[in-house]
Amino acid sequence: MNQPHALDPAPGLALDIRGLEKTYASGEKALKGVDLAVPAGDFFALLGPNGAGKSTLIGIVSSLVRKSAGTVIVNGHDIDNASEAARASIGLVPQEFNFNVFEPVIEIVTNSAGYHGIRAPEARERAEHYLNLLELWDKRKQIARQLSGGMKRRLMIARALVHDPQLLVLDEPTAGVDIEIRRTMWDFLRRINDEGKSVILTTHYLEEAEALCRNVAIINHGEVIEQGSVSHLLSESMVETFVLDIDSPQSSAATDQALVLEGFVINEISRERLEVEVPRGNTINSLISELSRQGIIVQSLRNKSNRLEEFFLRLVQDARSSDGTGDGIGDGAGDNPGTKVGEADQ
Ligand SMILES: Nc1ncnc2c1ncn2[C@@H]1O[C@H](COP(=O)(O)OP(=O)(O)OP(=O)(O)O)[C@@H](O)[C@H]1O
Ligand SMILES: [Mg+2]
Repeated sequence: MNQPHALDPAPGLALDIRGLEKTYASGEKALKGVDLAVPAGDFFALLGPNGAGKSTLIGIVSSLVRKSAGTVIVNGHDIDNASEAARASIGLVPQEFNFNVFEPVIEIVTNSAGYHGIRAPEARERAEHYLNLLELWDKRKQIARQLSGGMKRRLMIARALVHDPQLLVLDEPTAGVDIEIRRTMWDFLRRINDEGKSVILTTHYLEEAEALCRNVAIINHGEVIEQGSVSHLLSESMVETFVLDIDSPQSSAATDQALVLEGFVINEISRERLEVEVPRGNTINSLISELSRQGIIVQSLRNKSNRLEEFFLRLVQDARSSDGTGDGIGDGAGDNPGTKVGEADQ
């Protein structure tokens, strides 16, 4: 029966969140009225600095954390009045390892299937399937404590999928995972998504969001500050920063004069290296020809960081300077190699 004021679940949404608020008992307002819509079949990234509220949001969606206000509909099931169905339709890979480390790998996965009402022979079959896919079958008899960090994370993915949920939610799935395994996990997640499952992940690796996801939301201090398709957000990105290795026979250093190029912001890192901000509407071509007019030869050129990362940093830094908070993200971004933002602090 329809409840008064009940919202119609929007058709075709894996996740439909409206006015979501969470205040912890400590008084911490972790979510301050979040609206979020994730289409079914989407590959969606939830981005934000440490403490933004991502894990809180995921905890509520998976019925692990009690919300303070708002509506959450998971695959058409309202977590308030269809919590069982909502829970059954979601597979969660939490940020922290939360299995019994003394249990053998195979049992962790089959027991989770059992918890979801799947009978033993089928549970074994599915566990075998996913442990194989995640390259853990050889480890099935070992207790979880004997796995490496990356293996433990893959074990949590196998466990999250064993009841065949429509939506897979991963909270920082590739934190602490080596580059090769990360790429394997990306391929795996793409495959899961291609097979029709919706995937939502949080990540601090913005290249990961750019490589995998169709849509993103950026959350900061418990509020969604930007939401849209990755391609749309990138097209909004106003400035791109490049690092140039240069060879300058008539170096500006020789005359001790700062290098000035109209239309570009130049930061001379050293005699051989420049960082140049190229605003939208200006081109690399004109940058290089301007430099060569001044006798400077560009030996190599690369993006300082990926474009989504720059967009993210500008957005979060703008929000930070306008609300006067000094904690969080972005400090030291200038010296990172362009892959990771806001190292998790745990
Ligand atoms: N159990 C809790 N009790 C009280 N406050 C909490 C609790 N869990 C989280 N918080 C607070 O809520 C805010 C949001 O935390 P949350 O873990 O959701 O952030 P996050 O975006 O997942 O951050 P990270 O990127 O570091 O994982 C933080 O200020 C945090 O201190
Ligand atoms: Mg978190």
